[in-house]
Amino acid sequence: MPGDAEAAKRDAGFAAVERYVESGMVVGLGTGSTASFAVRRIGELIAAGELRGVVGIPTSARTATLANEVGIPLSTLSEVRPRLTIDGADEISPHLDLIKGRGGALLREKIVASASEEGLIVVADAGKLFDSLGAGPLPVEVETFGWEATLEALASLGCEPELRMDQTEPGRPFVTDGGHYTADCAFDSIPDPASLEVEIKRIPGALECGLFIGLARAAVVAGEAGTEIVEASTR
Ligand code: A5P
Repeated sequence: MPGDAEAAKRDAGFAAVERYVESGMVVGLGTGSTASFAVRRIGELIAAGELRGVVGIPTSARTATLANEVGIPLSTLSEVRPRLTIDGADEISPHLDLIKGRGGALLREKIVASASEEGLIVVADAGKLFDSLGAGPLPVEVETFGWEATLEALASLGCEPELRMDQTEPGRPFVTDGGHYTADCAFDSIPDPASLEVEIKRIPGALECGLFIGLARAAVVAGEAGTEIVEASTR
C-alpha cells in the first residue's frame, strides 16, 4: 500500500541518520522521496541541538532547497569532501549494486557518492530489493548535442532507450540540473552491471549511467518486518 511504502521510506531515512550521522560530519545529501526523510531528520536533530557542526553537500538543486528550509548548513565539493552520503535507490541487488536516477539526479549523485570517504549509505523501502538489476529502465544522463545519435548507440547495447520528457511541460524533454537530457533504457535483464557500466561510458554522449557499482557501503531497508541494515562487508 502507498501509505506503507511512505512509512518505510521515513523509517529507513530516519534510521540511517541515527546510525551513521555524527556531530561535525560533512554529509552528502541525496535526492528523492526517501533521501528527503533523511535530510529532514538531520534538520530536526540540528534544530534540537542533538547534532552540531553538520554540513551537507546536496546532490541536486531540489535537495539544496530542502536543506535550506530545514536549516542544514551547506558546502560544495570545492571546499570539502563528505565523510559519507545518504541517498535512495530505485533498485538494490543482493551485492548492494544499485540502479539510481529515476528521480532525475544521477550524475551529481554519483559525483558526491564517489567523493565520499566512507561511501554511500542507501536508504529504501523493501520494494527496492531485487535478485538482479534491470527490472525497470536504467537511466543514462546524456549530452543534449546529438542526443539522437547517443540513444542509437545505447540501443546497440541491447536496450530500448526512451528520451525522458518533462512531466510539467508537455513536449519538452526533461533537463537535469547539469543541463543534460536523460535516456531511460529498458533492458530485458542486466546480468553483468559492471561490464554494462563500462560499455555505456564508452559512448561519447553518455555522460553517466544510473548503475552504482561498489559505491554502497550499507543499505538501510525498511518494511513491514522492521528496519534492516545490510553492511557491504556482510553481504
Ligand atoms: C534520484 O535521481 C534517484 O537516484 C533517487 O535516489 C531514486 O530514484 C530513489 O528515489 P525515491 O527515494 O524517491 O524512490
